[in-house]
Amino acid sequence: MLSTLTAALAMAGAVSALPAARDTTTGVQFVGTNIAGFDFGCSITGQDNLTQATPPLSALGGPDGAGQMQHFVKDDGMNIFRLPVGWQYLLNNNLGGKLDATNAGKYDQLVQACLATGAYCIIDIHNYARWNGQIIGQGGPTNDQFANVWSQLATKYAAQEKIVFGIMNEPHDVPDIDKWADSVQAAVTAIRAVAAKQMILLPGNDWTSAQQMPTKSGPALLKVKNPDGSFDGLIIDVHKYLDSDNSGTHTECVTDNISTAFSPLATWLRANKRQALNTETGGGNTASCQKYLCSQIDFLNKNSDVFLGYVGWSAGAFSPTTYELSEVPTKNGNAWTDSSLVKACIARKSS
Ligand SMILES: *[C@@H]1O[C@H](CO)[C@@H](O)[C@H](O)[C@H]1NC(C)=O
Ligand SMILES: *[C@@H]1O[C@H](CO)[C@@H](O)[C@H](O)[C@H]1NC(C)=O
Repeated sequence: MLSTLTAALAMAGAVSALPAARDTTTGVQFVGTNIAGFDFGCSITGQDNLTQATPPLSALGGPDGAGQMQHFVKDDGMNIFRLPVGWQYLLNNNLGGKLDATNAGKYDQLVQACLATGAYCIIDIHNYARWNGQIIGQGGPTNDQFANVWSQLATKYAAQEKIVFGIMNEPHDVPDIDKWADSVQAAVTAIRAVAAKQMILLPGNDWTSAQQMPTKSGPALLKVKNPDGSFDGLIIDVHKYLDSDNSGTHTECVTDNISTAFSPLATWLRANKRQALNTETGGGNTASCQKYLCSQIDFLNKNSDVFLGYVGWSAGAFSPTTYELSEVPTKNGNAWTDSSLVKACIARKSS
């Protein structure tokens, strides 16, 4: 019901899908977490073992991602979720083919559960710029094949103003950044042919590193534009972890990475009149990560003219007892309990 109403309003032009810059005293516009699971089985080489996909939906036999999202919205003030999924999963391994009715239908159940909370929902193809080890537009899938999956997804969700198109998770070791920008442009052009207004996230090389963006990927990505020549809704996608090797695999944090990453990125975004969304950040449920992640988030809040928000990694189908970076809340009776890091840093503070 809610989604039908918002879609109708969006089509009537009553609601703008594009966020305005925030007053820097009130903090970022978007706060949320990843709801992982449909991406399980995706590796950094762009292989995707479909048998490992774990839908984070109790209706599909998995953990209750829908309940997690409802809790996060109601109790923590969250308003955006990122929903990672494997490219091969959506197409049932048929590169260039149609969305697989069964698999894309299951993923759509998660998308609809997200939309039903009233939050923004990021569709994230979690393939590291690759399909089975080969790079899009540089020996692997053609730009047309990449654009085609986005054309289908954009068509499916064109009427939903709160859908955000996260066109690729963490490209890395991509040899030619200008060719990569051409691949990104192909996806943007395909999406805009059917979905004029929703946000699109532009990912750079180097694992979408916030630190590398201004100097390495940014100059090429700045050329990606809408068919009308504007940059409206084209948001720079960045990630940043805080552990000793920036990998997001350790439970202890050693830096807030402000001086070397987020501060120079803010300067670059302002100079180029662009905005960024941090779609993966996080750490262990430890005192060191509380210290540094809260510090990073404080910086984003104070620079909310250029930082639209942050999305923690990760809730969803991970085990809250064994996953190092768990942001999975646990449920007892009707009460949800957050991980200590979500409670301390990621949940939006009421001001
Ligand atoms: C895919 O995952 C399943 C379940 O974990 C495993 O048994 C199988 O060996 C994997 N296949 C490949 C090709 O890695
Ligand atoms: C982040 O911190 C790590 C660990 O101190 C450091 O190696 C890295 O250069 C820093 N990167 C950024 C982006 O600040």
